[in-house]
Amino acid sequence: MKLNWLVLFAAFCFCVVPSLAVKEYLFKKCSQSGFCQRNRHFSNQVSKLSLNDEYQPRYSIDKSSIKFHNNNSTLVGRLNKKLNDDFTSVAFGFQLNILENHSIRFRIEDQLTNTVSNFRRYNETSYWSFKDHVQPDLFFEINTESKSENIIIGYSNGLYKIKIQLYPFKLTYYYNNSPSIVLNDRNFLNIEHFRKKNDNDLTKNLSPEELDFDCFTDSFKDSSKNTLKRGPESVALDATFKNFLNVYGIPEHADSMALKTTRDNRDDASYDGKERDLDPYRLFNVDIFEYETDSKLPNYGSIPFMLAHSHNVSAGLFWVNSADTWIDIIKKDKSTKTHWISEAGLLDIILILDNSPASINQKYGDITGYVALPQLFSLGYHQCRWNYNNQDDVLNINKKFDYFKIPMDSIWLDIEYTDEKKYFTWKNSLFNNPTEMLSILGETGRNLIAIIDPHIKSTNDKNYNIEQQILKNNLAIKDSDNKNPFHGQCWPGDSIWIDTFNPKAITIWASFYQNFTTFSNDSTNLHIWNDMNEPSVFSGPETTAPKDLVHYGDWEHRSLHNLYGHSLIEATYQGLNERYQNMKRPFILTRSYFSGSQRYSAMWSGDNMSKWGYLKISIPMALTSGISGMPFSGSDVGGFFGDPSSELLTRWYQTGIWYPFFRGHAHIDSKRREPWVPGDPYTSIIRDAIKLRYSLLPVFYNSFYESSINGLPVMKPLFYENPNNEKIFDIDDEFFIGNSGILVKPITEESLSKFEIYIPDDEIYYDFNDFTKIDQGEGKYEYKNLSLDNIPILIKGGNIIPRKMRYRRSSKLMRHDPYTLIIALDKNQTSSGILYVDDFETFNYKNNEEYLLCKLKFENNQISSNINNYKNFFDGIDEYLEIEKIIIVGLDDSGDNFKGEISQNNKIWNASIIREKNSLVIKNPKVKVNTSWKINIFNEKP
Ligand code: NOJ
Repeated sequence: MKLNWLVLFAAFCFCVVPSLAVKEYLFKKCSQSGFCQRNRHFSNQVSKLSLNDEYQPRYSIDKSSIKFHNNNSTLVGRLNKKLNDDFTSVAFGFQLNILENHSIRFRIEDQLTNTVSNFRRYNETSYWSFKDHVQPDLFFEINTESKSENIIIGYSNGLYKIKIQLYPFKLTYYYNNSPSIVLNDRNFLNIEHFRKKNDNDLTKNLSPEELDFDCFTDSFKDSSKNTLKRGPESVALDATFKNFLNVYGIPEHADSMALKTTRDNRDDASYDGKERDLDPYRLFNVDIFEYETDSKLPNYGSIPFMLAHSHNVSAGLFWVNSADTWIDIIKKDKSTKTHWISEAGLLDIILILDNSPASINQKYGDITGYVALPQLFSLGYHQCRWNYNNQDDVLNINKKFDYFKIPMDSIWLDIEYTDEKKYFTWKNSLFNNPTEMLSILGETGRNLIAIIDPHIKSTNDKNYNIEQQILKNNLAIKDSDNKNPFHGQCWPGDSIWIDTFNPKAITIWASFYQNFTTFSNDSTNLHIWNDMNEPSVFSGPETTAPKDLVHYGDWEHRSLHNLYGHSLIEATYQGLNERYQNMKRPFILTRSYFSGSQRYSAMWSGDNMSKWGYLKISIPMALTSGISGMPFSGSDVGGFFGDPSSELLTRWYQTGIWYPFFRGHAHIDSKRREPWVPGDPYTSIIRDAIKLRYSLLPVFYNSFYESSINGLPVMKPLFYENPNNEKIFDIDDEFFIGNSGILVKPITEESLSKFEIYIPDDEIYYDFNDFTKIDQGEGKYEYKNLSLDNIPILIKGGNIIPRKMRYRRSSKLMRHDPYTLIIALDKNQTSSGILYVDDFETFNYKNNEEYLLCKLKFENNQISSNINNYKNFFDGIDEYLEIEKIIIVGLDDSGDNFKGEISQNNKIWNASIIREKNSLVIKNPKVKVNTSWKINIFNEKP
């Protein structure tokens, strides 16, 4: 083990890039993970026996125990598990709730009388993951139709129905009278009840279909010290999505958007466990060094949320469990059959059914919260590298962006800015005046983002206040003895880890962001990057913390592992709010995350490589993130490890401008690659791409606004736009930007000269650059003569797109710039869109309703903007903010004697309209953004 971390550590520090590949042997296969292997074995046996009807399922609901509460919206009762002696059973309590948004939550808890008093399952995952730390309210209209061998509950005028079969236990959730999700369809329900080591014998606790592999020990070489004090405690359940053939979600994996089948698509096969390809998808937050593409191996974050989609109906399954989790998927009988296996914690599951994928996101967001509306600057371009070496280096980079006329919003500092990796300190010899540096960046509206990791250098130096406070207040994660702080290796060498599950640790961690004068206390353009928060432990099993460490509340790390990164960013968010006295929306980038992290932070996909395959996979990864409620995501532009060719770098920028989070980053050993480094033509093309992103910031801001109120992905899969077109259910190399109608297919292959983009419906589309009309209907559209400066972008007819066309050094300097509107007409000669504006920085949009929402429309040759009843002028929108140009694309009228009449604020004036290639242009209409207006267009026949 010691050798292992040394090897890893050396690789982290000195890695020279060739010969990169994930060290697979560091990560368990299902067959090496006790609980995964046991549950898979169990499912194999059950499947085989069931084929000949030889299996007698063990789980049943005790009819006499059933009770309804809360006006029938809660059903509780007892679930019995029959043991091997055929007369003893273990009883569990179950609870079914109908949530306010019509979803259902089903939980099973151990009844303590059956076990021992100190056996508790971790039950706080929902506390961290759900918004406002409360459980959703209940809905109050249920009709119980029967209390016989099935319990049937209908609600919402029969749109939803739940059928619970008592023996064998099975729960079927209906939508519009069709069975859509079935729990325990295949009888894989398995709750490993508490047992002592010597109870684990075949006579009682272990049925013939079960294995006793690694119940009390861990035979994986790097975790052999894992003390399984509580013995086997996994929870597992199968869920069938009936008549759904496509499932998505469960990030983070470097894989396609449509999830693949696992285990050779069979549920009765036995495996020797040698083939990693046959493993389930795994959710276990790890620092997966040099991860590979097209892989089901775990990555840095985990969201146990799956979306299933079919014609007219979509389904969501949220497995509320933060322990190490594996998910098998097979497709059979026109359905997708899943098997969820978690090492510990509660069996707690939320099921959502509705008529579209977007509605599922809305309901999932109802429960876990929507993405926090980001400050506008964070949607601009971020320039990062490991490392900008000193203050001069930073300021020089800052100037170069202006010299090359490339907009940029923030420069990032990686770990080398600290004094010997002691976070919350500055290496004074390199950064002697951070406040001055921040203020120079601030002159052009730019920001600094500094890294803060959760491992704290173990120094025993009384002057390192951070360590002292953590030790003095007993706030470090504890060793398995639950006494001493756990020590492990990370960047600083010997380190301890803050336990942000402890409320006091949250308060102290939050205070670190403001109390330390050395950390640029008074600057307001400083934001934070929380890295290595899986947590990454170089000396730990699977590069992370041992599972038997102990957290606040005496909870074992095993049960809450996937929440650690989330708890850290929650504390950081509090710290930044305190630092800015709730005046500014905090910006945080996190590497590790869980369901709910979207409320606090953006994420990126970690340490990718400068290879075409990583550019390609970055798109499905961002799409999956959006599907899973975490839309603020992106990948390192250029690739972290290695040196991209100029062509790859250019194509990566042309792709990266569409990531919701857009940052260039590079490993310490890679060559410099800021946009000017490759020289022309590359630099000019990269500049154009970044400028395109800036001109579309109003579109991105609109999309984030929408996502922050309804959970819609910002980078949106095609099937969200056309949910009934099966042909596009698995397209993951092109996407829409929110509801803007902008359809993009970035180029992710080398030296392409011919290229096809798939048009997903029969609407008219237009080329984004020259407005060529494409009216061919659904199908492939060929781009000919593709050159390096082309990015295939189309606009779907029926959408109005706001842009800001002037070059500025940062997004902040664009705030008073006028808008241009592109009105792309659909087949009916109509179009609509929105323009959302606020001060781009503070919470005033929420607290004082200081925002402007313009509803834009084109109908019957009239353009109109109707605004919400906004009250005051505020910074960001003032009485001078105007629309400087309106471009109408696709008007059927071929005349060229157009006149326009503009009306706003009871005044009327004429518009000047000219015909340009493929469009009509209203030049400088002088309409103000802040009140409603109309423009009527006439074609005066000569
Ligand atoms: C790992 C992160 O993934 C990477 O982006 C960063 O540069 C290094 N840690 C150093 O902090």
